[in-house]
Amino acid sequence: MPPSSAALLRWYDRHRRTLPWRALPGRTVDPYHVWLSEIMLQQTTVAAVIPYYHRFLDLFPAVGDLARTESDTVMAAWAGLGYYARARNLHACARAVAAAGGFPRDMAGLLALPGVGTYTAAAIAAIAFGQPVVPVDGNVERVTSRLFALTDPLPGSRKTIARHAATLNDSAEARARPSDFAQALFDLGAGICTPRQPACALCPWRESCAGLRQGIAASLPAKAPRTARRVRHGAHFLLTDAGGQILLRRRPEKGLLGGMLELPGTEWRPAPWREAEALAFAPARADWRAAGRITHVFTHFTLHVDVYAAHVGHFPNTIARIGGMAVPHADLDTLALPSLMRKCVAAAWPERAT
Ligand code: ADE
Repeated sequence: MPPSSAALLRWYDRHRRTLPWRALPGRTVDPYHVWLSEIMLQQTTVAAVIPYYHRFLDLFPAVGDLARTESDTVMAAWAGLGYYARARNLHACARAVAAAGGFPRDMAGLLALPGVGTYTAAAIAAIAFGQPVVPVDGNVERVTSRLFALTDPLPGSRKTIARHAATLNDSAEARARPSDFAQALFDLGAGICTPRQPACALCPWRESCAGLRQGIAASLPAKAPRTARRVRHGAHFLLTDAGGQILLRRRPEKGLLGGMLELPGTEWRPAPWREAEALAFAPARADWRAAGRITHVFTHFTLHVDVYAAHVGHFPNTIARIGGMAVPHADLDTLALPSLMRKCVAAAWPERAT
């Protein structure tokens, strides 16, 4: 029996999550809100996104406000959400949309926007513009692979899963409510068809689920074994002065955390840094003390950072040579300082947070 769109929508009408970017039933939603939430939700949980979403709408009530804002201000508002290329693309996209006088309504137009890939274009097309497309994110991949008992492992099976997912809205009921249908799939994946212990007994699609019938639902989607996680090591330096300032510098535009601020430090390499070796990269001569080690997980590697701290009366003139800038530490919370660097500061200067 094919999965019933009507059953899914009935379930959604009863159990839908109330989320700040969702319109109330029967109301249309602002494409700016949909786009903003979708960009934020890429690689980030709903719970982590909600406060940022509210803050962005307070700071930038319309896409034109975001477009007109300086890049540093946007990056600072984004700081802590991670994957900073998203923030740069977000800003570029806001400018493109403002220049065009609004969001494109179709997949091709949406796909041409900076930072908008197949999933995001489909999500905006369905949710904001009522186009009959099925956005395929991790939730929808999980639901689909179980429903059709697709056992080939990800990532190789991605295209096959997407092909099956595209058939899910093949019904008059789904096509009458594309926005609700897409979000019903997200909610099913988040609340019922969960990664570890799916609540199959409560699922509106339990009678159509081949994965459940075969007793393999919880094991899907299968994943190809991961190669061992790569590890990198670095050292960063927290230098403070008697005036309550902290020494920062800007990272190169290209590459990881591009254009964000950082504590000066070494490159990140596979081998650990011995203390004497790391100190050769210190931004000034000072009485450096080893102030702790933090770990930060990026998508493609885990980074271990040894943090060194020192206090001086005045920063030496030589800091200009490394592109250093003196910033009042009281401003730290409003700067575009990535989470990794906030962890480094917190490790070396725990009293500051209190
Ligand atoms: N994940 C991505 N987009 C979402 C949405 N609109 N609602 C809930 N979860 C989501």
